[in-house]
Formats: sequence, structure tokens, C-alpha cells
Amino acid sequence: MADNSTLVLFGARGNLSRIKLIPGLFHLDESGKLSEKMKIVSVGRQNISQNEWENEIKDMLEKKFNKKYDLKVFDRFIKRNIYHSTLPDDPDAFKKFSKLLLNDSRFPKNFAFFLSVRPSDFAKIVDQLAEENLLNEDKYWRRVLIEKPFGTNLKSAINLQASISKHLKETQIYRIDHYLGKSALQNILWTRFSNSIFEHMWNNEHIDHIQITNHETLGVGERTEFYDATGALRDMTQSHLLQMLALTTMEKPKSFSPDDIRVEKIKLLKSIRPIPINKIHKYAFRAQYKSGNIEKEGHVKGYLEELENDKSVVETYAAIKIFLDTPRWKNIPIYLRTAKRLNQSGTFISIKFKNNQDNKKLADNWLVFSIQPKESTYFEIQTKVPGLNKVDLRSTKLEGMNRLEQDDKIDAYETLMLDLIEGNQSRFLHIDEVKAAWSLIDPIIENWTNNKEKIHQYTAGTLDPKESEIIFENQSQFWREGN
Ligand code: BG6
Repeated sequence: MADNSTLVLFGARGNLSRIKLIPGLFHLDESGKLSEKMKIVSVGRQNISQNEWENEIKDMLEKKFNKKYDLKVFDRFIKRNIYHSTLPDDPDAFKKFSKLLLNDSRFPKNFAFFLSVRPSDFAKIVDQLAEENLLNEDKYWRRVLIEKPFGTNLKSAINLQASISKHLKETQIYRIDHYLGKSALQNILWTRFSNSIFEHMWNNEHIDHIQITNHETLGVGERTEFYDATGALRDMTQSHLLQMLALTTMEKPKSFSPDDIRVEKIKLLKSIRPIPINKIHKYAFRAQYKSGNIEKEGHVKGYLEELENDKSVVETYAAIKIFLDTPRWKNIPIYLRTAKRLNQSGTFISIKFKNNQDNKKLADNWLVFSIQPKESTYFEIQTKVPGLNKVDLRSTKLEGMNRLEQDDKIDAYETLMLDLIEGNQSRFLHIDEVKAAWSLIDPIIENWTNNKEKIHQYTAGTLDPKESEIIFENQSQFWREGN
């Protein structure tokens, strides 16, 4: 059981908090993971009463759990929750807040601050917390969790780091990438390193190429302003897809301790060869969705219509090809693609093995780690169709489910909030990982931003645009659809 602590949520009335954080904390409480005296302080800029806040929590839980939850746990959970307003025009807001936290005996003095706020506010809040002596670890632990994105490019990430590290040691900083909290992602490492069959074929002798895919049927929704300042490459590739890449291709860590895992991930991310910008069209492809039909939603608008600005060249589809400068992966292309508004949602890692047979007609072998919606691992192999004389082969799927119906459903944020209060940094990003990721992505974004020509449009609800295939190394390669 973790130490008694006070978890402070900044941005507690925002979407993330309503949909993930508060329900996640409730589920942790239900599972007996929160220490008896733990308190949750929700900080907001609106002046609402404790009573109103409790009603809001009730509403969030009812929506999430369909009114099916234990009322005894609900009462306990409500008692842990306190709303505190820091009004934007009050110069003493942080002073009052610190007085409350430090002097009121209801609050355990180990503090975890979860910053689910605008990225431009991260450094400011850390400065204010430090000023009020809330980050000093002389007697108690003090941790700060920073939501994604950590910077919007390498320079701003370095600046943010310089600013917060004036007040915080690396062991106090929890940079989140919520994909690392997904059990299916953790499973990649365990599958690779707990099964001896994988190691000998995990290299350029046996593997033809790797595809790391995230497809969504969702569009950008109400986040048009955020998204247009961000784009798919920054939103997904820089963070989630590169983390999936690291787990799939890193060397075996010395041990499974958080530090040893991070050492190998950092090495791997640093080994990515920069994309040759003079040949960028062979390495990176971008596009935008136009109006179309999405199953269950019907007709949907195109990105530019939602944005109400037809000049934007920000991508909702991004596919890139990278190579790793390591002996294991020399000359093996790795494709990373992410899209909004495709025909199907799915996150999966597909590994295509080389076809060394003389008979080129033989179909290929694939190994797929399916991350979501289904959590499974499968091989696709060729087997003989039963029958007389003729030898006909067909693809057979050998699939193992990594999550069974009866298994506990734990949201990624729930896992990560528990890590935060238990002091486990293994599923959080080290600053060197963040820097390596921006170093790869920055030159592509810069090139794309400067090129204002209208970008390729794909119809919402369709497959990957055919034009994206320009990045393939050879003609035998194709996008694997669906998981
Ligand atoms: C977020 C992105 O980090 O991840 C969103 O900002 C994206 O644009 C989301 O939709 C995907 O997360 P998940 O867990 O639904 O796959």
C-alpha cells in the first residue's frame, strides 16, 4: 500500500479529469488501492461550492459506470475529495492554497501534483508551487506529473525542462505518455523477453519490415484549435508511436527495473537515423480527411470544414519511414502511421518476416501485437488445405488473447496515477526520451509547415490513402489493414 498522500488535480473540471481521472481514482478506491487517509484536492479556476463539486463527481461516475457502483465506496470516495478554487484574478491564490495544504491536518503532507492544464501553464504552476514551499522534499515526498505534450518541439522541451528542474529533481518529475499505462504495451516486453523463441529471429536476418499503426475513426472533434496547432505527427507519432517502437525494438534490459528499462529505451530512441530532408517525400507522407461516411456516425465533415479555414496544411494522417542505426536493425524499414477518420479504429504492431523460400508465391508470415480494441498476439502462418492430391496453402491465424472477458479492466490513467502515488517512474518518460523524439520529428514538421501547398485529401471512412505507399522501400510491401 502506498504512503498516505494528497493528490492535487490541477484542471480537475476539464475533460480528461471528468472522463478518466476522477472515475479512475474511484476505481482505485474500489479496488482498495488508496491508503485510508489519502485525500484528493481538485483545483479549479471557478468558484463552486464543495456541494456542487460532489454533485459533479456523482454525475461523472454515473456516466462512466452506468450508475452501477457500490454506495459505501462512493461515500468513502466523496469524503476524500475536496474542491479548492484558485481564482485567476487573486494574487494570493497560491498562498491561500499552500496554507490550506500545509496547515490543515486533514491533508497528508506527501504531495502529488497532477498538472492537467494548458501546456503553457506547466512551468508557471511549478514556479508557484516552489515559491510556496510545496516542492521541498526535506521531510516528505513531493512529485509533479506533467501531461502531454512536454514541449512542442525540441527547443521548448529543453526550455520547459530547464525551468522546472530549477525546482525539481528528475526523481520528482513524472512526464506522462498514457500509452505506457496500457497493459497491452507492457505486454510487448514480457512477450519478447519471456519466450525464448523470439530472440533469435528478432533481427534484420529474419524480419523484412515493421509497421506501427494507430487508426482512429474519430475526427478532431471540438479540439480544432489545439489540433491545428499540433497535427498528427506531434499528437501521436512523437509520443505514443515512438514509445511502441522503443518497446518493440530495444535490446534486452539488464533487469526489469524501471531504470534499466529506461536506459535501453533511451539508447534505442537515440539510434533513430535522422530523416534525410532532401528526400523527405520518400520518408514522410501527410494528408487531411475530407467529408465522408463513418460507420455508426453517418456523414461527417472534412477537417478544413470543421476548422473553418481552408488554408491549413496541418495533417490528420501521417506516415513516416525510419531506420535504426543498430546492428540488429540495420537496413530494416520501420513504418509508423497514424490517422484520424479512417474506416476502422485499431492500434497494432505488425512484424513481417522475410520470405526466404524459392517459391515467391508463398504468402508471408506476420506476427502482430494487437494493442486495441482487441488485446492479442498472433502469428499468421501458411498451412495445407486438407484434400486429395493438390497442395493448396492458406493463411492460418494462431492467436492468443492477452485479455480475457473476466480480466480486470484498468484504464491506462488509473495505472499511471497509482504509479505516481507509489513512486514508480518506469512507465513515465525520461527527459532524454522526450528530446530524442523531438529531434526526429522537428525537421519533418518544419519542412511541412513551410510548405503551404494544399496537401493530399482522403475521404473520411476509407483506407490509408494509396499515395502514402510512396514511402515503401519496395513494391512487395503494403499496409496491413485491420487487427
Ligand atoms: C491522445 C491524442 O494523446 O491520444 C488524441 O491527443 C488521441 O488525439 C488519443 O485520440 C488516443 O488515445 P487512445 O488511448 O484512445 O488510443
